[in-house]
Amino acid sequence: MNKNSQQTHQADASKPTARSAGSTLMSRRKFLATTGLATTGFTILPSGTIYGQGAGNKLNIAIIGAHGRGQQLYQHINSENIVALCDVNAKNLAMAAETFPKAKTYVDWRKCLEQKDIDAVVCCTPDSTHAMVAIWAMNRGYHVYMEKPLGNCAYEARMVRECYLKNRHKVATQHGTQRHAGSNCQRIAELVKRGAIGELRDVHTWGNRTHSMTDYYPDAGTPPDHINWDLWLGPSPERPFNPEYFAGTRPGTNCLRWNMFRSFGSWQVGDMGSHVVDFAWNAIEADRPTKISATGDDFNPAVCPSRLQAAFTLPANDWRGEIRLVWHQGGYMPNNPLEFVGLNRISHGMMFVGSRGILVSDFNNRVIIPTGSAADMTYFNAPSEEDLLPAVGNFMGQWITAAKGNLKTNCDFDYAGRMIETLMLGLVAHEAGTELEYDIAAGRVTNMEAANSMPYFKRTYRDGWALDG
Ligand SMILES: NC(=O)c1ccc[n+]([C@@H]2O[C@H](COP(=O)([O-])OP(=O)(O)OC[C@H]3O[C@@H](n4cnc5c(N)ncnc54)[C@H](O)[C@@H]3O)[C@@H](O)[C@H]2O)c1
Repeated sequence: MNKNSQQTHQADASKPTARSAGSTLMSRRKFLATTGLATTGFTILPSGTIYGQGAGNKLNIAIIGAHGRGQQLYQHINSENIVALCDVNAKNLAMAAETFPKAKTYVDWRKCLEQKDIDAVVCCTPDSTHAMVAIWAMNRGYHVYMEKPLGNCAYEARMVRECYLKNRHKVATQHGTQRHAGSNCQRIAELVKRGAIGELRDVHTWGNRTHSMTDYYPDAGTPPDHINWDLWLGPSPERPFNPEYFAGTRPGTNCLRWNMFRSFGSWQVGDMGSHVVDFAWNAIEADRPTKISATGDDFNPAVCPSRLQAAFTLPANDWRGEIRLVWHQGGYMPNNPLEFVGLNRISHGMMFVGSRGILVSDFNNRVIIPTGSAADMTYFNAPSEEDLLPAVGNFMGQWITAAKGNLKTNCDFDYAGRMIETLMLGLVAHEAGTELEYDIAAGRVTNMEAANSMPYFKRTYRDGWALDG
């Protein structure tokens, strides 16, 4: 089992680390050589690696949050042994147990993680428990597939990343931004990095979902027997039960019943923002911001703003200067760069603005528009076929393969931790109502002390709950 393997790896938690298998920094040729795929057709594992404990080198997986999004993921993990299921909703747990009758069942994820034969955890609980489950699981040497977003405040994302950097020599992690797997994600990165739009300046990302809530659902009395409301709340403050939190009609959509409420989620900046900004993040190879400003609906202590526009100043790296990344949500949109480009026809999209052109994209398609008289494309260093960045293909499969050997995934918790720390700072700036300056190494807002204790900077937990356990 990987958790016992003894490779060593130096990790500096304050700095971004070199990207992994599908990194935009790594060509297809180099990727194939690194993984052994070029010569053998299958992955050569590092010596000393021990596979999963299950028969036939299968991973023993615990699914925490066993229905909803969890159910959507069954088809991607049922090649492995599902040895544990955990859900606070007894009906959901019973449905999961019908699919995986050999698995032990739990209501409390902390007890589930004590099961001795677990190799890996797939976690699909509400956002308010993501960082805790991730850290507790990595502390026990388990590989982790964590649904997005990685945390419900900047500090949580930062702590998950730090825990991962300490354990990266023995655990494989993947953040649930599965759209990353398609080739469009890598084509965008190549175009941007190889200068198709000249020098990169601004990146705009957006999502058009809205909500109309102004407060938590009202008290609706005692929860039904099949729902453990106390464990559903978990680390979040006491709050009355209401069945509306569970009123989603299709698996994987119930999150829209609770993720606008501050205790439980971060609305679209953490929801679809994770997916959209992932495409940008993959292309721009960014660290966290030095400055953050935001505008939107008036601050409401109960719910996240439906309309939000958050701008992040991201430091230069070795191939580009400082850039500005903007997330537009709930009606905010970047200006159309040309009259005939209608950005609002794209519900969730991104636009990269360079000195010689723009690239507009959704999850599946992209267009390049050279702009200005000097935009003759001679400066574009087009890749040859063998230089093309490999698409991940099977996103969950990449994590399973990584857990069995090379530990390399595209959306590990180093990459995703920096992205989610950044996005959560957008909600801090919205509450602060002023531009914030951020010390990346220290993880502190330097020009407004109060911002460092705002809930999307650092949440507080109910008694009995700890982030690191
Ligand atoms: N990657 C994607 O495309 C995608 C799609 C949908 C949802 N998601 C993410 O998946 C997560 C779950 O979303 P959902 O719509 O399935 O929500 P949901 O409310 O249906 O919750 C999922 C399951 O977790 C259970 N659960 C809740 N709290 C729990 C706890 N403390 N311990 C154990 N089980 C618990 C619920 O009973 C339910 O069965 C969210 O974080 C969401 O962002 C990702």
